[in-house]
Amino acid sequence: MIDIHTHIIFDLDDGSSTIEESIAILKSAYEVGITDIILTPHYIDDGKNSYNNDGVEERVTLLKNRMQEEGIDIKIYLGNEVRDYGNIVDILEKTDAKTLADTKYMLVEFPMNNEINYIENSIYELKIRNIVPIIAHPERCYCFTKNYRLIKELAGEGVYFQVNSGSIIGRHGNEAKKIAKKMLKDGLVHFLATDTHSMKRNGYLDWEEVIKLLDKKIGRYMRKKLTIYNQRALLINEDLKKY
Ligand SMILES: [Fe+2]
Repeated sequence: MIDIHTHIIFDLDDGSSTIEESIAILKSAYEVGITDIILTPHYIDDGKNSYNNDGVEERVTLLKNRMQEEGIDIKIYLGNEVRDYGNIVDILEKTDAKTLADTKYMLVEFPMNNEINYIENSIYELKIRNIVPIIAHPERCYCFTKNYRLIKELAGEGVYFQVNSGSIIGRHGNEAKKIAKKMLKDGLVHFLATDTHSMKRNGYLDWEEVIKLLDKKIGRYMRKKLTIYNQRALLINEDLKKY
């Protein structure tokens, strides 16, 4: 299985703090059968705090060396989780924010707690630059939970949605769980990912529980589509097959 949303580069964003923690997380991923991981540190410029890609390459080299020593056989790719405060054009044009694994797909998140009115405009700006948006954890964002119709509309326009595995089993509260389940039922989830940040917020520890539940609720084929097949298409920069 392939995880496209993680914060496990040590000492960089609000993800894992030390290389030891990163390695412990990666071991737990390997144990539950994760074969490929895209590292997606936050890319944020909100005028006050910012996260960027300074120091990423060095840390990833250290991490890969340690993984080899420890026998953790997982392929690693780079990307970002790009936060859009309505400044996506600046980010795309003036920064080194990365798409996922050098493909046309970009993981984009919107602020979680506010009503926002620029989503459609941002999607337009991404599309005219041939970037395919994957919206991170809509089930945790007020702008989508309060306006479910928007998820449907955007999906109809070729936007993809990534739901957090933890949301399905209630790790992010009842509202997120309810929306995640509804999205699964309506065929609006395209990628399931852990969004792992630390040993405390480690989605691999719940992974088997999530897989079992999905097999029961949506069936084995659809579960594989959301955890393996769509991710494979992404990694070779192909379009996702329709449901
Ligand atoms: Fe994230």
